[in-house]
Amino acid sequence: MKLLYFGAGFVGACSATVNADSGHNVLVYDVNKELVKNLSSLDKDKIESNLFEKGLGDLIIKNQLRIKFTADLLDVKNFIDATEAIFLCLPTPEKENTGETNLFFYETAVKTLGKILAKRNNGKQDQYVLLINKSTVPVNMTNQTKEIMEELGVKNFGVGSNPEFLVEGKAIEGSTKQERIVIGAWNEKDFAIFRNIYNRFYESPLTNYIEVNPYEAAASKLLANYILFNRLANCFDVVGRVCEKFIGLRFENIRKVLTTDSRIGEWGFYNSLFAGGSCFIKDARSLFYQLKSQGVNTDIVDSILTANQRQLDNFLARAESELNFNWSGKIVGIMGLAFKRDTNDIRNAASLKVTEFLFSQNVARIKAYDPVAGNNYL
Ligand SMILES: NC(=O)c1ccc[n+]([C@@H]2O[C@H](COP(=O)([O-])OP(=O)(O)OC[C@H]3O[C@@H](n4cnc5c(N)ncnc54)[C@H](O)[C@@H]3O)[C@@H](O)[C@H]2O)c1
Repeated sequence: MKLLYFGAGFVGACSATVNADSGHNVLVYDVNKELVKNLSSLDKDKIESNLFEKGLGDLIIKNQLRIKFTADLLDVKNFIDATEAIFLCLPTPEKENTGETNLFFYETAVKTLGKILAKRNNGKQDQYVLLINKSTVPVNMTNQTKEIMEELGVKNFGVGSNPEFLVEGKAIEGSTKQERIVIGAWNEKDFAIFRNIYNRFYESPLTNYIEVNPYEAAASKLLANYILFNRLANCFDVVGRVCEKFIGLRFENIRKVLTTDSRIGEWGFYNSLFAGGSCFIKDARSLFYQLKSQGVNTDIVDSILTANQRQLDNFLARAESELNFNWSGKIVGIMGLAFKRDTNDIRNAASLKVTEFLFSQNVARIKAYDPVAGNNYL
């Protein structure tokens, strides 16, 4: 199949590469020329200097005849006539601490795409095309995508949802052996296109291939992230605090007892400093905003966000409260800058908040080190 991607970030690059590896012919468009240059370099180190995802460089190189990255819309125009599906993998950050999703990048890309789609097949638009939303978006986003397309005169298209559940740092491993693929579509024609794209996984006993409608797909993504986030925060803010405040409790022992209950399970049972990254905070805030807009009480969602910040604040206050330490004028080292291990992504990383705190305490200098995320931190 001919597949087009808009957005070559963590989600777009990894998903596109895995689809090329499944045998599809893939073009990936991104406005970031430097990123496109590196992803096109066929040099593993250069590829992974932008997106440090284990296995990504090797898989792009292996599938180089089936995948092309471009920052030139002319390539998109030349590819579009026979394109069967288009994946939208665009940033959907939070709008200025409101919880609302900032759709600027998404809508800009959709409008650029719409203008090209309206002219496909010499304006006849006889090739049916499925637009697939992979970004994490508000629940009813497919309606807005459809409206933008119709306003631009695009015809003969469908809009579906295929939220991304990748785990940064394990994106390639996770996407080549997917435990779950969630497909949101409104009709059998679109479900059939999805099944062709994911033919490799559709009948695999290792993959839960779940077909729902696009609203359910989008909502599941937000809720899945919220539940994982909840799990982390409960572990450090409640279990961690209990272990800390009562004499004689060792976190590792309590952990062993709790995680061997199969109803509880192991995931997320670390006493971590802060749950950062590009998704958990943003998606919980988006859930908060969407529920609030429906007049629903959001106390539980709010408390998870508060607990996350409290954990970091507690840690940062300790040097002073427990050791009477004065940061002013000190040279301070920060080891590890990414938001977690095995990635160079520093979005919402604890290191950024620690840096902010240290500057507010008038430290003389910060020496920061991370073998892969150093350049992103600067
Ligand atoms: N990173 C993750 O672990 C993860 C996991 C699941 C879902 N998501 C969601 O997927 C979406 C993308 O996330 P990401 O981490 O890949 O973001 P990213 O910032 O790494 O990548 C987005 C890419 O889109 C490009 N872009 C911006 N405007 C464009 C335009 N007009 N045309 C073409 N390209 C454009 C940017 O240059 C960037 O390379 C977000 O909605 C995110 O919430 C991310």
